[in-house]
Amino acid sequence: MWTPESWRRKHAAHQPAWPDQAELETIEKQLSSVPPLVFAGEARDLRASLGRVATGDAFLLQAGDCAESFDGFNAVAIREKLRVILQMAVVLTYSAGVPVVKVGRIAGQFAKPRSSPTETKNDTELPSFLGHMVNDLPFSEGDRRPDPQRLLQAYNQSSSTLNLLRAFTKGGFADLRRVQAWNQEFVSSSNEGQRYQKLASEISRALRFMEASGISSQHPEIAEADLYTSHEALILQYEEALTREDSLTGDWYDCSAHMLWIGERTRQLDGAHVEFLSGVKNPIGCKIGPSATPDEVVGICQALNPDEIPGRLTLITRMGAKNVTELLPPVLEAVDAADIPVVWACDPMHGNTFTSETGHKTRHFNDVLAEVQGFFEAHRQAGTHPGGIHVELTGEDVTECLGGGEAVEPQDLGKRYETMCDPRLNGRQALDLAFEVAELLSGDQEA
Ligand code: PEP
Ligand code: CO
Repeated sequence: MWTPESWRRKHAAHQPAWPDQAELETIEKQLSSVPPLVFAGEARDLRASLGRVATGDAFLLQAGDCAESFDGFNAVAIREKLRVILQMAVVLTYSAGVPVVKVGRIAGQFAKPRSSPTETKNDTELPSFLGHMVNDLPFSEGDRRPDPQRLLQAYNQSSSTLNLLRAFTKGGFADLRRVQAWNQEFVSSSNEGQRYQKLASEISRALRFMEASGISSQHPEIAEADLYTSHEALILQYEEALTREDSLTGDWYDCSAHMLWIGERTRQLDGAHVEFLSGVKNPIGCKIGPSATPDEVVGICQALNPDEIPGRLTLITRMGAKNVTELLPPVLEAVDAADIPVVWACDPMHGNTFTSETGHKTRHFNDVLAEVQGFFEAHRQAGTHPGGIHVELTGEDVTECLGGGEAVEPQDLGKRYETMCDPRLNGRQALDLAFEVAELLSGDQEA
């Protein structure tokens, strides 16, 4: 039987080696009585919206940092991330004519699975950096020691981030009548920035026309936005501690975020992560990488969405640009044949990472785009809905991914390479991608 702690009977992959169990338990206890970050009703609303994505009546935009940082924590960084997500959503909605469900990798995205549990430098072996929820990046014994106090700090930072996001989305910043103000300076001079400017002024004109015709634009649909939160549910003690029984329905919700996902490295059918997320009623995601067999993916659907609820499960495929054409179709076919409703989202980032000659972990915009194109094409052929994209981005003018309209070149990577983990699209590249996806999406709708 599922309980919030039943995952403890299974193997949990990619967990930190917490040096002090008693300290961890003390923190778990503290976290189990803090106020929830999100409400069950909000998670249900998101599930309903994702249900519309599953049937092709809406599009999912899930985006944000690879890993949020305790250091770069300030209002401007949060606002800039929100701004670029709003811009992308407007481009998609306006060009493709479908509502966009916006989900941030934000307010809780602090834990990272790594390819190796330890890192060795000059004969010193230390635990790998597992995200600020666990330890710190500098290569020293003190910094790399898993520290349960960080779980509390992650909760607190998530709470303030969410508070600010709620203020921005409900308090005027996300008002569609400000659509032109969302373009940032470093973006507006570029081609995609100007393209955005043109689209934004068309929207403003349409809104003025509405007003002039006596139709008020004071609707919450115009004045406010919904941005849901999500993160990888990796550290299960944290997720369990924030899981609450909903007084209205008696169901369990993981109240650390609206949506949680299982990573590519922790999606074992008999593992602790699948067990934990199978029992909470939030909408959940699961990454599907190139090693997943069609049968395995069907097994994941049966384990995570046995009641076949549309919007409950999002499969986030991340095959890599080179593999998507070959590997995605059999997966789509198998899930379609099993007749379990899912949202299909494309993560065009994690299958396309490589190390540049300058030694930076990077991704090329062309590969990102190629995977998205392959994703749309595979769905067109299978007759399934390409439901959304899942991307790593920042609102800032970083140089972490190569290419894009105003191309970042290999020699630029060192200039503003600021990520703590994976390379993110900058504001320009993100907007560029939104225009490309909008075209694919509107072509898809006409077909
Ligand atoms: C991520 O989304 O940051 C991540 C680690 O992805 P994946 O599990 O697909 O490798
Ligand atoms: Co990442």
